[in-house]
Amino acid sequence: MPSRILIYTGKGGTGKSVISCATGLRCSELGYKTMVLSADPAHSLSDAFSTNVGSEPVEVSKNLWAMQIDSIAEVKKSYAAIQEYFAKVLSAKGIDEVLAYELASLPAMTNTFALLKLEELEGSDYDVVILDTVPSGEALRYIFLPKIVGRVGRKLLGMLSPLAGAMKLLEPIFGAPTPDKEAIRGQVSLVGRLERLWGILSDVDRSSVRLIANPDTFSFENLMRTLLITNLYGVNVDLAIINKVLPSVVKDGYFKEWISSQEEIERKLERNVYPLPVKRLRLFERELKGMDMLKKCADELFGEEDPASIYYKGSPFEISSSKDRLVIRIRAPFTSKEDLDVERFGDELIVRMKTEMGEVVNVIPLPAMAYLMSLKRAKLSGGRLNVEFERER
Ligand SMILES: Nc1ncnc2c1ncn2[C@@H]1O[C@H](COP(=O)(O)OP(=O)(O)OP(=O)(O)O)[C@@H](O)[C@H]1O
Ligand SMILES: [Mg+2]
Repeated sequence: MPSRILIYTGKGGTGKSVISCATGLRCSELGYKTMVLSADPAHSLSDAFSTNVGSEPVEVSKNLWAMQIDSIAEVKKSYAAIQEYFAKVLSAKGIDEVLAYELASLPAMTNTFALLKLEELEGSDYDVVILDTVPSGEALRYIFLPKIVGRVGRKLLGMLSPLAGAMKLLEPIFGAPTPDKEAIRGQVSLVGRLERLWGILSDVDRSSVRLIANPDTFSFENLMRTLLITNLYGVNVDLAIINKVLPSVVKDGYFKEWISSQEEIERKLERNVYPLPVKRLRLFERELKGMDMLKKCADELFGEEDPASIYYKGSPFEISSSKDRLVIRIRAPFTSKEDLDVERFGDELIVRMKTEMGEVVNVIPLPAMAYLMSLKRAKLSGGRLNVEFERER
């Protein structure tokens, strides 16, 4: 059973695949038997390792294994019977067959099923498994699907199974096909696997999500939202990485504004995710391809550190709710004065605090529950900022 599972996520093109590979390389050098898994539809692992990586595990170098997940094959393996059943139900209702199959797919299904590889690897002897997630800022929502699906009463499904034959008699009443044994069995085993997957992901002593952003505003906002979502679901984020930072050797006046805006975003990120550690990685002189480049990348990112260690446990936000109230607590270590201004803009909260270091602006993405609520008060106490929302009446 792997003792560490690292999941890299971030917006498209931020560097998830190359950083996953560099992390894998360093782990393998430290003696861990390591697997780098990619759910990318592109051949990103082959590119980074400069060797052919397919859907079977391949040993790229000593202790380092890689595999490109074939998402479609994973869907077929775990969901085909269920999808067939739903499609039959829908087409019995007069929906065009092609459309029926489309509707019978779960949202973002291929990505979710790619994750089930983690559950499959529970029986393996890898020490560290690194997952490079799909190129979407929303990738983590897929990770959370197990939690939602996993709650479907497995027992109830199991109880239905012996009734499958009898239920056939009810078809004329329902006006639609009832699930056969295979669909029910498929569903029961899928729910079980999703539950185990959830158990793995939410184990803070084994699994960590790592967030990657580039030094631009969109990428930063995406990171903040992912941090909120992971927090809501109780998945531990142990590190943020800001990648493709223009290095100080770039002196050309043309990049002057880029350099200062990148510095500004870096500072903002550090303050906004505090106390989560933030690493930075420069934009190299060329693409990160091949073992030599990956080694350089690992050196700069981790130095003498062990990338499999848990960099941080805990959360920059605390969110609690009762029926009509929602409280968000964030760490505000930079200020002791009651000198702040909180404003809500759509699905974000902008907090401006006057501190000894000048004005600090925190951007807090709001959970969906707050959409139905109004901002009541914001108060500093004990190095924390408490923001309260109340349901509108
Ligand atoms: N620090 C860096 N310096 C130079 N090139 C980099 C750096 N980080 C990433 N790259 C390059 O940027 C490109 C995108 O990187 P990568 O494929 O790792 O991103 P990704 O987040 O996995 O993208 P996708 O969302 O498409 O899967 C690659 O060509 C990679 O070599
Ligand atoms: Mg990628």
